[in-house]
Amino acid sequence: MSTQTVFRITLKDGIDGIRAFQEPIPSAGPYEVLVKIHSVALNYRDIAIATSTYILPTRDHVIPISDMAGEVVQVGERVDGLAVGDGVIPPVIASYMYGGFKQGHDDDGYGSVADGMLREYVVLPATALVKLPQSSLGFAQWAAVCGTGSTVWNAFYGNTALKPGDTVLLQGTGGVSMTGLVFAKAAGATTIVTSSSDEKLAFAKSLGAHHTVNYKTHPNWATEVLRITDGQGVDHIIENGGLGTIEQSLECITASGIISLIGFLDMAEQKQPNMLIPAIAKAVTIRGIRGGSKHQLEEVVRYMGKRGLAVPVDKTFGFNREEIVAAFKYVASGKHVGKVCISLD
Ligand SMILES: NC(=O)c1ccc[n+]([C@@H]2O[C@H](COP(=O)([O-])OP(=O)(O)OC[C@H]3O[C@@H](n4cnc5c(N)ncnc54)[C@H](OP(=O)(O)O)[C@@H]3O)[C@@H](O)[C@H]2O)c1
Repeated sequence: MSTQTVFRITLKDGIDGIRAFQEPIPSAGPYEVLVKIHSVALNYRDIAIATSTYILPTRDHVIPISDMAGEVVQVGERVDGLAVGDGVIPPVIASYMYGGFKQGHDDDGYGSVADGMLREYVVLPATALVKLPQSSLGFAQWAAVCGTGSTVWNAFYGNTALKPGDTVLLQGTGGVSMTGLVFAKAAGATTIVTSSSDEKLAFAKSLGAHHTVNYKTHPNWATEVLRITDGQGVDHIIENGGLGTIEQSLECITASGIISLIGFLDMAEQKQPNMLIPAIAKAVTIRGIRGGSKHQLEEVVRYMGKRGLAVPVDKTFGFNREEIVAAFKYVASGKHVGKVCISLD
């Protein structure tokens, strides 16, 4: 029987607990396909799982990483709509197909509870894959949209849709934020990006960000955002900080604006117990986002394919233990802008 290299993590050892194993290459069942993985993309989630700081359930010895792009190499006899040679990507949660997030979807998040994609081959249900269009994008760029693409799409279009002319605030320059910048620009929104680094802000400008604010040199960054918007505030905030940033988000959101609560990068304690009162005073919608459904990922792929959009990939590492550990540590360091990938080719 042929074998493949699979990486699993011993959680008590943190990122250094990622180790290689040789395991059988599985075969596709009647409703499944075998996928040869060409690229995987990291999310902050993968770092949080590896360092035991993730806010949702995890499983020891799991295969890390949810996001991959690959090529179908074997098709089960009852599979419809996928053929050998098709490019595919999965949503983060196999059972979250469409509509709102439901109780129980946590049980099969790839790379946290269910085995993820840090391996050469994976068998998946054909219904849990999105077929890629012919395009100039490579496997790394498609892997980069699985989690962050569907999450940002859910934030912008899963409830009240983003409109041309809206102003969007994107916190930081990581994967979620830079994906948000690409989508918000394509939607005709005015964009404001915050970052700890002027160099990263210059990169965001090169991607088309209309305004930038350094939150280190402007610790009261909400004041800057209000100045930029002539005191009106922004219509939509991609909230990546969480507890440590939401107070200022509430300061610079416009009346009836939307805060998409996505990240937990800044878990600073609440400074004042009444900090949520502005949410009431301004009739703000604070909407928790749990990734995106397979249907939303399909919409992302169609949109990106038709509009020729790509999410920036900062760096691509190799598929060996040393490089994989380095890739995780690079994302943990926060030095990246946009996405970080691991290539298996
Ligand atoms: N709810 C969901 O479904 C969902 C889906 C995807 C991601 N997430 C979460 O969203 C967050 C972002 O994920 P990611 O993959 O984009 O992470 P990432 O690529 O690792 O981005 C990290 C970047 O965020 C910025 N940042 C850190 N602290 C900040 C703060 N206090 N204010 C503003 N920016 C800050 C930094 O950028 P600068 O150096 O430019 O400041 C940092 O480099 C994470 O907490 C992740 O777990 C949630």
